[in-house]
Amino acid sequence: MTVHDLFALDEIEAGTARKIDLQGHEIALVRIENDVYALGDTCSHADVSLSEGFVEEDECAIECSRHGALFDLKSGEPLSLPAIRPVPVYAVTVTDGRVHLTIEDVPEESQ
Ligand code: FES
Repeated sequence: MTVHDLFALDEIEAGTARKIDLQGHEIALVRIENDVYALGDTCSHADVSLSEGFVEEDECAIECSRHGALFDLKSGEPLSLPAIRPVPVYAVTVTDGRVHLTIEDVPEESQ
Protein backbone atom coordinates (compact mmCIF):
# COMPACT_ATOMS: atom_id res chain seq x y z
CA MET A 1 0.00 0.00 0.00
CA THR A 2 1.47 3.32 -1.03
CA VAL A 3 0.19 6.71 0.08
CA HIS A 4 0.81 9.51 -2.41
CA ASP A 5 0.82 13.17 -1.44
CA LEU A 6 -0.82 14.65 -4.55
CA PHE A 7 -1.49 18.38 -4.28
CA ALA A 8 -3.09 21.07 -2.15
CA LEU A 9 -6.88 20.90 -1.84
CA ASP A 10 -7.02 24.48 -3.17
CA GLU A 11 -5.65 23.26 -6.49
CA ILE A 12 -8.94 21.58 -7.35
CA GLU A 13 -12.05 23.70 -7.44
CA ALA A 14 -15.15 22.40 -5.64
CA GLY A 15 -17.59 20.81 -8.08
CA THR A 16 -14.89 19.90 -10.59
CA ALA A 17 -12.84 16.87 -11.57
CA ARG A 18 -9.20 16.52 -12.43
CA LYS A 19 -7.31 13.64 -14.01
CA ILE A 20 -4.00 12.29 -12.79
CA ASP A 21 -1.79 9.48 -14.01
CA LEU A 22 -0.19 7.61 -11.13
CA GLN A 23 1.82 4.39 -11.41
CA GLY A 24 -0.05 3.49 -14.58
CA HIS A 25 -3.46 4.23 -13.04
CA GLU A 26 -5.51 6.93 -14.74
CA ILE A 27 -7.58 8.41 -11.95
CA ALA A 28 -10.31 11.05 -11.82
CA LEU A 29 -10.21 13.14 -8.65
CA VAL A 30 -13.48 14.87 -7.87
CA ARG A 31 -13.96 17.54 -5.25
CA ILE A 32 -17.30 18.05 -3.54
CA GLU A 33 -17.16 20.79 -0.92
CA ASN A 34 -14.07 19.85 1.12
CA ASP A 35 -14.10 16.15 0.28
CA VAL A 36 -12.22 14.53 -2.58
CA TYR A 37 -13.16 11.24 -4.25
CA ALA A 38 -11.05 9.16 -6.61
CA LEU A 39 -12.22 6.70 -9.21
CA GLY A 40 -10.86 5.07 -12.33
CA ASP A 41 -10.88 7.72 -15.05
CA THR A 42 -12.05 5.46 -17.87
CA CYS A 43 -15.79 4.99 -18.21
CA SER A 44 -16.79 1.31 -18.02
CA HIS A 45 -19.02 1.73 -21.10
CA ALA A 46 -16.38 2.97 -23.57
CA ASP A 47 -12.93 4.53 -23.58
CA VAL A 48 -13.93 7.99 -22.36
CA SER A 49 -12.36 10.07 -19.61
CA LEU A 50 -14.76 10.53 -16.70
CA SER A 51 -12.86 13.59 -15.49
CA GLU A 52 -14.21 15.39 -18.56
CA GLY A 53 -17.74 14.65 -17.39
CA PHE A 54 -20.12 16.60 -15.20
CA VAL A 55 -19.94 16.55 -11.42
CA GLU A 56 -23.34 16.06 -9.79
CA GLU A 57 -22.70 17.42 -6.31
CA ASP A 58 -26.15 16.63 -4.90
CA GLU A 59 -25.91 12.99 -5.93
CA CYS A 60 -22.21 12.63 -5.11
CA ALA A 61 -21.69 11.32 -8.62
CA ILE A 62 -20.08 12.10 -11.96
CA GLU A 63 -21.83 11.88 -15.32
CA CYS A 64 -19.93 10.57 -18.32
CA SER A 65 -19.73 13.19 -21.05
CA ARG A 66 -20.30 10.70 -23.88
CA HIS A 67 -23.60 8.91 -23.14
CA GLY A 68 -24.53 10.21 -19.72
CA ALA A 69 -23.98 7.22 -17.42
CA LEU A 70 -23.81 8.38 -13.82
CA PHE A 71 -21.22 6.86 -11.45
CA ASP A 72 -21.38 6.94 -7.66
CA LEU A 73 -18.18 8.60 -6.40
CA LYS A 74 -18.04 6.51 -3.21
CA SER A 75 -18.56 3.05 -4.72
CA GLY A 76 -17.78 3.48 -8.43
CA GLU A 77 -21.09 1.76 -9.20
CA PRO A 78 -23.07 2.96 -12.20
CA LEU A 79 -26.32 4.63 -11.16
CA SER A 80 -27.72 4.80 -14.66
CA LEU A 81 -27.39 3.20 -18.08
CA PRO A 82 -25.73 2.67 -20.45
CA ALA A 83 -22.86 1.69 -18.12
CA ILE A 84 -23.48 -1.57 -16.26
CA ARG A 85 -20.07 -2.26 -14.70
CA PRO A 86 -18.44 -0.28 -11.87
CA VAL A 87 -15.19 1.63 -12.13
CA PRO A 88 -12.51 1.20 -9.43
CA VAL A 89 -12.41 3.57 -6.50
CA TYR A 90 -9.37 4.65 -4.49
CA ALA A 91 -8.99 5.82 -0.91
CA VAL A 92 -8.44 9.57 -0.56
CA THR A 93 -7.84 11.61 2.55
CA VAL A 94 -7.44 15.34 2.96
CA THR A 95 -4.96 16.16 5.71
CA ASP A 96 -3.63 19.61 6.56
CA GLY A 97 -5.02 20.92 3.29
CA ARG A 98 -3.25 18.29 1.18
CA VAL A 99 -4.85 15.52 -0.84
CA HIS A 100 -3.45 12.02 -0.28
CA LEU A 101 -4.34 8.95 -2.30
CA THR A 102 -3.68 5.35 -1.37
CA ILE A 103 -2.98 2.70 -3.98
CA GLU A 104 -2.86 -0.96 -3.09
CA ASP A 105 0.38 -2.43 -4.38
CA VAL A 106 -0.13 -5.29 -6.79
CA PRO A 107 2.02 -8.35 -5.99
CA GLU A 108 4.77 -8.95 -8.57
CA GLU A 109 3.48 -12.32 -9.81
CA SER A 110 0.00 -11.00 -10.69
CA GLN A 111 1.23 -8.06 -12.79
S1 FES B 1 -18.78 6.15 -22.78
FE1 FES B 1 -19.46 6.65 -20.80
S2 FES B 1 -21.56 6.28 -20.88
FE2 FES B 1 -20.87 5.69 -22.84
